[in-house]
Amino acid sequence: MALNYTKKTIDHFRHPKNIGSIKDPDGLGEVGNMVCGDQLSFFLKVEKGKIKDVKFLSFGCASNIATASVMTERIKGMTVEEAKNFKWAEIVEDLGGLPQQKIHCSVMAVEGLKKAIADYEARQTRASASKSPAKKKTLKKVASAKFKSGRKK
Ligand code: FES
Repeated sequence: MALNYTKKTIDHFRHPKNIGSIKDPDGLGEVGNMVCGDQLSFFLKVEKGKIKDVKFLSFGCASNIATASVMTERIKGMTVEEAKNFKWAEIVEDLGGLPQQKIHCSVMAVEGLKKAIADYEARQTRASASKSPAKKKTLKKVASAKFKSGRKK
């Protein structure tokens, strides 16, 4: 049984946008579906709170590729906050619809994006914590305590 894909979905599958990876990404999100076995990885570069670049790698079906492709086009240039609110239904609408059994491909694309954003935010938190004076003081105390306990008496 042939699935009824729109012309736009077929075009994104045949000529995907933003395919590839980013060296030293600011955020990385990897997702997979245990039922169909498809996988996606998203790589983000963020500058001044905006998504400067996004790339993806797909190990999946035609709509896995097409949905990731159209989503990357849409979110490039968005603020991180805007991208956090991006919905899978926007992908489906942009593609002019998806066969019912392929809706989960768009859901997976958004899950991958959310994971990449969560990874970006976790890295930001770790980076700012390591720069804070309170953290530096704690690290100094720990280092000093380790030094003292290692000394011979
Ligand atoms: Fe599972 Fe497309 S069939 S992501």
